Amino acid sequence: MSVDRCLDGKVVVVTGGGRGQGAAQARLLAARGAEVVAVDVTDEPEEPLPGCGFRRLDVTDADGWQLLADDLRTAHGRVDGLVANAGITRRARLLEVSRADVDDVHAVNVTGTLLGVQVIAPLMPAGGSIVVVGSVAALTGHFPVAYTASKWALRGLAKAACLELGPRGVRVNTVHPGFIETSMTASAAPAFRAANIAETPLGRTGSADEVARVVAFLLSDEASYVTGAEIPVDGGLTAHGGVKSISDALSR
Ligand code: NAI
Repeated sequence: MSVDRCLDGKVVVVTGGGRGQGAAQARLLAARGAEVVAVDVTDEPEEPLPGCGFRRLDVTDADGWQLLADDLRTAHGRVDGLVANAGITRRARLLEVSRADVDDVHAVNVTGTLLGVQVIAPLMPAGGSIVVVGSVAALTGHFPVAYTASKWALRGLAKAACLELGPRGVRVNTVHPGFIETSMTASAAPAFRAANIAETPLGRTGSADEVARVVAFLLSDEASYVTGAEIPVDGGLTAHGGVKSISDALSR
């Protein structure tokens, strides 16, 4: 089967699919043959989703997840893929962050993912694939502390899910996007953007489509022996451990 149709017939749920990276994933997966259900906390998607279904779902709502799973079981009898992409951030630092910030971010990023895995994984046949969207903040001591802690927690969740679901032939992998051009980063300070680019060996920000292509690979049977893996999609940002500024300074 060609890469272009590598997801033919697979039923895939994408959370946070109404805009940004989730919308780009939903569109690409549908273009590659998947039957996509994009879910988001909004009533309507903010971006066009040709070839995709859309449904309102707050990922922190356990009853909403159960209803979705029941409907998918009735409609398809199975689910082949789940992309746990929905995420929020709060930018407060360690000494300013509020309990409410920590709770809100954890609820969406971690609990929302867990709830989804708990109801969707039982519908997955062998060959099923779950992709968790982490962040470079899950690989570093990033300063928005609530977000960073939640994304590190997601890594643990993904590893536990890999262990638990592997015997059933269900794979669980994580992608870690770097600075990707979406609504989440559109409001970032210019200095944040410039500093990210300066630390990125490829010398630029990334696009939602560049993350979506890695997600599509992990969902496909091309990745049939890949589980428990973590793939940075960050232009090399996390590869050098801070050495880039030293290297650049010496070059100058
Ligand atoms: P975004 O803010 O454009 O999209 C996030 C989507 O999640 C939105 O459509 C939003 O409505 C949805 N969402 C938020 N709370 C929800 C909930 N309770 N239930 C269902 N949907 C909900 O941001 P972006 O960039 O597309 O983010 C996607 C993922 O990528 C997130 O997990 C984010 O943490 C991660 N990420 C983003 C990076 C970036 O540079 N943009 C970098 C690293 C990770």
